[in-house]
Amino acid sequence: MTIGILGGGQLARMIGLAGIPFGLQFVVFDPAEQVGGSAIGRHVRASYDDEDALIEFAGSVDVATYEFENVPVHAVSVVEQHCKVLPEKTALHETQDRLRENQLFNRLDIATPRFCVVDSRQDLTNAVETLGYPIVLKTRSGGYDGKGQVVIRSEDSVESGWIESAQDNLLAEEFVPFDREVSIVAARRPSGETVYYDIAENVHRGGILRTSFNRPGDPIQGLAIEYVNRLFDELGYFGVIALECFQVGDSLLANEYAPRVHNTGHWTIEGAEASQFENHVRAVLDIPLGSTASRGYSAMLNCIGALPDRDLCLRVPGVHFHSYDKSARPGRKVGHVTVRADSPADLERRISLLPDFFSGAGDAL
Ligand SMILES: Nc1ncnc2c1ncn2[C@@H]1O[C@H](COP(=O)(O)OP(=O)(O)O)[C@@H](O)[C@H]1O
Ligand SMILES: [Mg+2]
Repeated sequence: MTIGILGGGQLARMIGLAGIPFGLQFVVFDPAEQVGGSAIGRHVRASYDDEDALIEFAGSVDVATYEFENVPVHAVSVVEQHCKVLPEKTALHETQDRLRENQLFNRLDIATPRFCVVDSRQDLTNAVETLGYPIVLKTRSGGYDGKGQVVIRSEDSVESGWIESAQDNLLAEEFVPFDREVSIVAARRPSGETVYYDIAENVHRGGILRTSFNRPGDPIQGLAIEYVNRLFDELGYFGVIALECFQVGDSLLANEYAPRVHNTGHWTIEGAEASQFENHVRAVLDIPLGSTASRGYSAMLNCIGALPDRDLCLRVPGVHFHSYDKSARPGRKVGHVTVRADSPADLERRISLLPDFFSGAGDAL
């Protein structure tokens, strides 16, 4: 049995690492020359416009999936003529435009930050009047890790914010003074079974995820599950999905969903009975899903721009080290470390023993 993955980065690599023990083979499709996913199987290096390559890829796998939400929908349309693709491409289409995504949430009675479409300087003036300060201007498509976003805090920074922005095809959102950011990762398979991980509490800096902590028994879990069930039902979704939210008091405002395995679910590799990667494989194969039960308390710390000293990390009990085999570059996620413990106090102590590279990582505890 062979699974094809559109996108060949670290997420494809971790899906493969989870599926290889099941006796599966993998093929990754990615235009880049060097990809971390080549460690798990054949790499088809071609553009998403290359129909012949897409057909050859589809013909060599039993089921295809993706690890990247900006895979062009037309590429998936080609692939699905030749093999099953899960999740179906609607889930990609709906998330590839932030306006469409927010409208989907609102149709499903999932609250979001208030937003306005901005295609001109006049639209920005109107948006500021409607939303007040601060606002965040976001590109409607193609953004990731905070790229394409500008925060406008007051009248003084409207002009400079406008100049810095793409000036077209933007969404202005109220900047939410959230109590915390949380996400839920869940999986559903075609036979109907659905499983949910404990929510993660996430800390971003500069728009990039820094840390995720699992939160077993959290009171907001039920609402997060309700939201994600509405998405599953509406999208006819099979596979792993992640939903990122801002929590304000007892309410959750949906920020975005990812139709794939997600960085805020990396803690599940060691911190849950079956990881998000394993459950994604199980879901797209439609075989019984694994338990999502947390194994104690976990922290996932991203390595951004560089890797810390591996052996210094590994001296700390409960630490697991993941290098994505990517070249270092500022702002680039090149690996992560998961710390696991049986109590929050032990977790905190173990994080404090990590090298200075991670200083401040325990602040969200
Ligand atoms: N409306 C908002 N209010 C407050 N913080 C925000 C808002 N939008 C984005 N952010 C911050 O920026 C981060 C990245 O934004 P996000 O919309 O998730 O874009 P990306 O697609 O780059 O992940 C969020 O996780 C959050 O920390
Ligand atoms: Mg995000």
